[in-house]
This record gives sequence, C-alpha cells and structure tokens, in this order.
Amino acid sequence: MITKTMQDAINDQIHKELYSSYLYLSMAAYFEDNNLPGFARWMRVQESEERQHAMKLYDFLAERGGRVLLKAIDAPRSEWKSTLEVAEEVAAHEAKVTASIHALYETALKEKDYPAQVMLQWFITEQVEEEKNAAEIVANLKLIEAHGTAVLMLDHRLGKRGED
Ligand code: FEO
Repeated sequence: MITKTMQDAINDQIHKELYSSYLYLSMAAYFEDNNLPGFARWMRVQESEERQHAMKLYDFLAERGGRVLLKAIDAPRSEWKSTLEVAEEVAAHEAKVTASIHALYETALKEKDYPAQVMLQWFITEQVEEEKNAAEIVANLKLIEAHGTAVLMLDHRLGKRGED
C-alpha cells in the first residue's frame, strides 16, 4: 500500500502532466491558426505523450492501492509572438517538469518506496529526451533567424554523408 505522502506527490505530478498536455494543445491550436500544420502536428504528438505520462502515473497509483484525485487545470496561454517563443516556452516547461520529476524521485527515496523509484526511472530517462528535442528545435529556429534555411539544408546533407 502506498503512503499518503507518495500518493499526494503522484497526484500532483498527474496534475502537472495534464497541464502540460493542455498547454501543448493550446500551442497546437496557435500553430493551426498560423498555418503551420507541421508545428501543430509536433505539439499534438507532444500533447498526446503528456496524457500518456499522466496515465502511466494514474495506473501506477491505482495498482498500488492509492487513490487518484484530479485537480482543476488552469487555462493555458493562447498567444505567442513567434514560433521561436513557443519553442523556448516548451524548452523551459520541460526543464520545470524535469525538476518536478526529480523532486518526486527524492520523495520516493525518503518514503523508501522502491516500486515508485523503479517506475520513475522511466520518467527520468524520458525527460532527457524531451529536453534534448526541445533544445534542438530552439537551436534550429535560432540558426534560421541568423543564417536562413540554407544552413539547415547543408546540415541535413552532411548528416547523410557515408550513407551512399
Ligand atoms: Fe511529461 Fe514532457 O514531460
């Protein structure tokens, strides 16, 4: 049986994952409105991943005899100045999620909740990937701003060297 402290901490994380999903869906809507279906698709995939993260925690809590308690989700922001500003917000948001996953892991250590520690290792690994992807998109957008798209096309070509 899971402790009350651990149950509360997991419920908080479920809330954060669902907020992330809501924020990313709002970003997808912003991109649809700005005729950028590729970027909208990126955010829709992210949105769906965040719901899966929430459900992973939900299922874990239910399996351990805990009680899932959902909280109200704030309305997310709906307007941004540019694509770069959205990407920077995604990167900053993912950094916050990483900090929150690490804090949750600390709680699992203090509570001596070994199954939670194992389950959270998946999230720790996932966050490394999430942060890397967001940082890459920010960096690409900055490169385009500074040097135009040609540099990315050249990078793509160089990335294929040795394949043929
Ligand atoms: Fe659920 Fe993007 O972290």
